[in-house]
Amino acid sequence: MRINPKDPAEILYPWTSTKITICFLLVISFTYISYSLKSVLPSNLCREQYSVTSHLQSEAPATPSQPISPPAPAPLEPQEPKTNLSHIVFGIAASANLWGNRKKYVKLWWRPDQMRGNVWMDQPVKVEPEDEHLLPPIKISSDTSKFAYTHRKGHRSAIRLSRIVTENFRQGMENARWFVMGDDDTVFVPENLVRVLQKYDHNQFYYIGSSSESHLQNIYFSHNMAYGGGGIAISYPLARALEKTQDKCIARYTGLYGSDDRLQACMAELGVPLTKEQGFHQFDVYGSVFGLLAAHPVAPLVSLHHLDVVDPIFPNMERVQALQRLNVPMKIDPAGLVQQSICYDKMRSWTVSVSWGYAVQIFRGIFSPREIEQPARTFINWYKKADFIGYEFNTRPVSRHPCQKPFVYYLTNAVYNKNTNHTATEYVRDQAPNPQCNWKMANPSRIDRVQVYKAYDPHIWDKSPRRNCCRILPSKKKKGTMAIEVGACNEDEVVELR
Ligand SMILES: *[C@@H]1O[C@H](CO)[C@@H](O)[C@H](O)[C@H]1NC(C)=O
Ligand SMILES: *[C@@H]1O[C@H](CO)[C@@H](O)[C@H](O)[C@H]1NC(C)=O
Repeated sequence: MRINPKDPAEILYPWTSTKITICFLLVISFTYISYSLKSVLPSNLCREQYSVTSHLQSEAPATPSQPISPPAPAPLEPQEPKTNLSHIVFGIAASANLWGNRKKYVKLWWRPDQMRGNVWMDQPVKVEPEDEHLLPPIKISSDTSKFAYTHRKGHRSAIRLSRIVTENFRQGMENARWFVMGDDDTVFVPENLVRVLQKYDHNQFYYIGSSSESHLQNIYFSHNMAYGGGGIAISYPLARALEKTQDKCIARYTGLYGSDDRLQACMAELGVPLTKEQGFHQFDVYGSVFGLLAAHPVAPLVSLHHLDVVDPIFPNMERVQALQRLNVPMKIDPAGLVQQSICYDKMRSWTVSVSWGYAVQIFRGIFSPREIEQPARTFINWYKKADFIGYEFNTRPVSRHPCQKPFVYYLTNAVYNKNTNHTATEYVRDQAPNPQCNWKMANPSRIDRVQVYKAYDPHIWDKSPRRNCCRILPSKKKKGTMAIEVGACNEDEVVELR
């Protein structure tokens, strides 16, 4: 015969009922003791009750004798206005010997009537009268000779530059929410910088930026570091905390190479991780950045850097002239700048990739989106031997077969139509010839011009990230011109290969 099973809980926990009794007694006596001691032993519970009570009291009518007016609408939490350009304080890392050449990059994006900030120099420079109202004020960094610098290859100016945020903070800027630093060869897209910062609560600690494109750079420096040239955004309270500790912190890291790794070392001491935003571009590459700009991540373009190192972004042009060309679509629809969309000309078996405001590519054959969304290696690795294994993201070769080398069309014109609220951009075929190809299929060389129509869409980043869709429009009379519509995908729209 089997023994009647007891209550299973009692088999597992034979002491339960006794324990409950003991605990109950303990709780009662503890409550009694803490009640007698009152605030000597505050518990969370006590504090919560206290705050609820006081809250209720504060809402009770203070003077009941006054005439009763109709109930006012419930007071809303006073909302802070959205972050805009006026809340950002820029700090530009510069040096006197390069300024004559580099200031042209700053002029491309600096808006003297809307922006605040300083250029931090090692020594005074002559300010040309025509520049005075086009560039930020110039400040001389304070002396850093008391700090040791022991890295064998770098330059001790790194110490001076790592203190830019702190020195800007000490200027006592009113209503500052963000301190943004960049180099003198960095170009920002101001609207997109604001868009990105609006996502974060400026009353908390944030350290925002992005890594290097080079895997080895990130190993040598840190994957947790915001690269200075790509731009670094630090929220106001974090800048205040940094200001208090930075000089002591810098003194502990004499062996580091640059300014951004010194800054990251102090962030690590404060325990603040990097918040990565993919639109900041350090551009640690050589050669042509076409591949990177033609397949940008689905994120707003915030910055470009190393503009003296990489080729001009449009061929057969001066560097600054090329950037001025990009400024045109940037002005009419910054949120959409260099956003990629992928579609197919099914009749002719072509793959079409649009990088809005920059370039269009037509490929012979059908490539999947997962391939075309990878940057083509038009650029060369920062560590020249590393090549394709050396990047932080997937890349693809420019082409595997000469016939598959894309036909490239570069932006020539961009306009905004007020009446339709649409933009029209035009792209003309690159003069560089494509390799000979004897495939028996439609030849994209017959297309010499591409027109792209897109609704003005400043709200694209208020939604979850999704690549725009493109659709090839029925060809008009004009031979040699392809017309494409770009815009938000319909809910169930998929880029299907066939
Ligand atoms: C930016 O926000 C401030 C409020 O903090 C507001 O006074 C100002 O008008 C805004 N500027 C622009 C250009 O919207
Ligand atoms: C244009 O379209 C955008 C996005 O739908 C909208 O926010 C904006 O108000 C429109 N502008 C005009 C002038 O109609």
